[in-house]
Amino acid sequence: MEKPAAEARIQALRNDINRHNHLYYVLDAPQITDAEYDLLMRELLELENRFPELVTPDSPTQRVGAKPLEKFAQVTHRIPMLSLENALTDQDIADFDGRVKRELGMALSAEITYVCEPKMDGVAVELVFENGDFTVGSTRGDGFTGEEITQNLRTIRSIPLRLHTEAPPRLLEIRGEVYLPLDAFRKLNLERQEAGEAQFANPRNAAAGSLRQLDPRITARRPLSIFCYGPGEVAGAGFTSQSEFLATLPQWGLPVNPRAEKVNGVAGILAYYEGIGKDRDSLPYEIDGVVVKVDSLHLQRELGVKSRSPKWAIAWKFPPRQAVTVVEDIITQVGRTGVLTPTALLRPVEVSGVTVSRATLHNWDEMERKDIRIGDTVLIERAGDVIPAVVKVLPEKRTGAERPLPVPSTCPECGSEIVRIPEEVAVRCLGLSCPAQIRETIIHFASRRAMDIEGLGIKYIEQLLRLGLVKNVADLYYLVKDQFMLFERMGDKLAENLLNAIESSKKRELARFIYALGIRHVGEHTAKLLAGSFGSIEHLERATEEELLSVREIGPQVATSIRTFFDNEQNLEVIRRLFAAGVSPSVEEKRVGGRFTGKTFVFTGALTRFTREEAKKLVEGEGGHAAGSVSRKTDFVVAGEEAGSKLEKARELGVKVLTEEEFLEMLK
Ligand code: IVH
Repeated sequence: MEKPAAEARIQALRNDINRHNHLYYVLDAPQITDAEYDLLMRELLELENRFPELVTPDSPTQRVGAKPLEKFAQVTHRIPMLSLENALTDQDIADFDGRVKRELGMALSAEITYVCEPKMDGVAVELVFENGDFTVGSTRGDGFTGEEITQNLRTIRSIPLRLHTEAPPRLLEIRGEVYLPLDAFRKLNLERQEAGEAQFANPRNAAAGSLRQLDPRITARRPLSIFCYGPGEVAGAGFTSQSEFLATLPQWGLPVNPRAEKVNGVAGILAYYEGIGKDRDSLPYEIDGVVVKVDSLHLQRELGVKSRSPKWAIAWKFPPRQAVTVVEDIITQVGRTGVLTPTALLRPVEVSGVTVSRATLHNWDEMERKDIRIGDTVLIERAGDVIPAVVKVLPEKRTGAERPLPVPSTCPECGSEIVRIPEEVAVRCLGLSCPAQIRETIIHFASRRAMDIEGLGIKYIEQLLRLGLVKNVADLYYLVKDQFMLFERMGDKLAENLLNAIESSKKRELARFIYALGIRHVGEHTAKLLAGSFGSIEHLERATEEELLSVREIGPQVATSIRTFFDNEQNLEVIRRLFAAGVSPSVEEKRVGGRFTGKTFVFTGALTRFTREEAKKLVEGEGGHAAGSVSRKTDFVVAGEEAGSKLEKARELGVKVLTEEEFLEMLK
């Protein structure tokens, strides 16, 4: 390709990629598959490699370009980043509204228009856009001076490197809150646990820790996001209200919390606070209150600021998610994979409407690092629906009577040997027939997100085990009514309901079934990937580590764990008995109406335009199937350079052979 043509193609690719980034990260409405996105990115990278002089800092390939820093530089904010006064009660809000009207010389009966926004519990940052380009990003710091973290902020996909407008303002300073979504927070902590690293007590600490990395490659691996909520200095654009400001940002590609709302007077604020408070636990991110702002920027200016906070805004905080309590005891719980987890039994304490009496201490490394002892007074935190954790010990409350809990020498449930694997922080029970492991495996299998056997909770599972009616999950499907009737307080109807629930679980989707098996490192998400890629337990069972690794997002640890599971004769026996009892997981309909629905592809030879894994995704994204070997059922063989026996076989069988280009052409 000649340079002018390359230049045009590069521009087209960048526009396309930026649009898809926005659709994916901001609007949560992707229009193409990951594999198609990767193809665009790869083509852009290749062209930029051939013509390095055409690389510009706003190219989507340049998000993680920079080298690690020695230290962060200081940035002085052109306009100080103020903090907010806090309100805790309805009365505080009524007082605030009264003060606003008095300052403005308005009648008390007048009604002010406010904007209510969720108060994100993250890290405040400032983004500077000069003539549309994102040039400098910084933390709030002390409000006057912060740290320059531009290269870390550039890795956040929802921040545009260039504003999506032909006529950007000369200067646009935007304030916003960087946060880590709750599911990413949970995943990060799991990974850190496995790597033997300290866990974050809450998503805010995790976001702050991620932004404070001197090496932007680490930040890039954390799926941080941002909501923009206020202007700093602006030149070349004008707004008359906060609501207008919030409505304009998304048009420029800047994300705004969709829950922000214009309301009237105190009554409007109260209703908003109540509504969002109800949703607090189901939001995918942590919020710690509501920020109330006078909508009109003209009135905001008239009201002005106090020393550290504006007079036109207030933060109405939710009850804190943290509380101080006492560790009354530390017990050891044995999970379904045999991992021993120290768990603190707490003096019950209310944390934002929920009584908390336990907190996870994660593992012994973590417990020793935080020096948590029985009898300690501790600060605990409950983030969203995440299991409560101990943030820190309050050492000043110690009396000297506190005592640490050493690593047990044997399993507290079955007395088996314990191992502490050097490269893992986990302490594990080696007992193959450890009753705790069996119990937890069955509880997990029957749970709502797995096989969803309604009514079969911990109580019944414990009775089944005690009576010796069940030794593994397959036994559940061989139970008869009379056996249930042996239970305490069991009636005809209840027993029938349980049997019906077991019966109807036989047809759960494949992904649930895979998740229910409780394979180490295979959570719901991974189970979905596996179900999508292999389509049946038989295929999954036979997959080699290499084939498992070709599934996107599946790494060596997970692949090994899956192989180990299916190499175990006991596990295979349980699966055989499950199937013999009539369990037959259903396969979700593949995307119908795709261009390749019902078609089977085989890729062979050295591929240059895409990897095998990408090819597979492309085919599956269109409803087709990618197979490993050529047969009469194969519809197309896509042959790269030096294709050998598979190509020969295709010719023999008269299967249509395509070049990589022809294959891509079919996708256009
Ligand atoms: S407005 C002058 N809006 O809360 C107005 N702040 O104490 C300044 N925050 O450090 C802030 N969500 O990091 C505003 N929707 C929101 C917010 C928000 C979170 C944080 C912000 C600031 C602190 C205020």
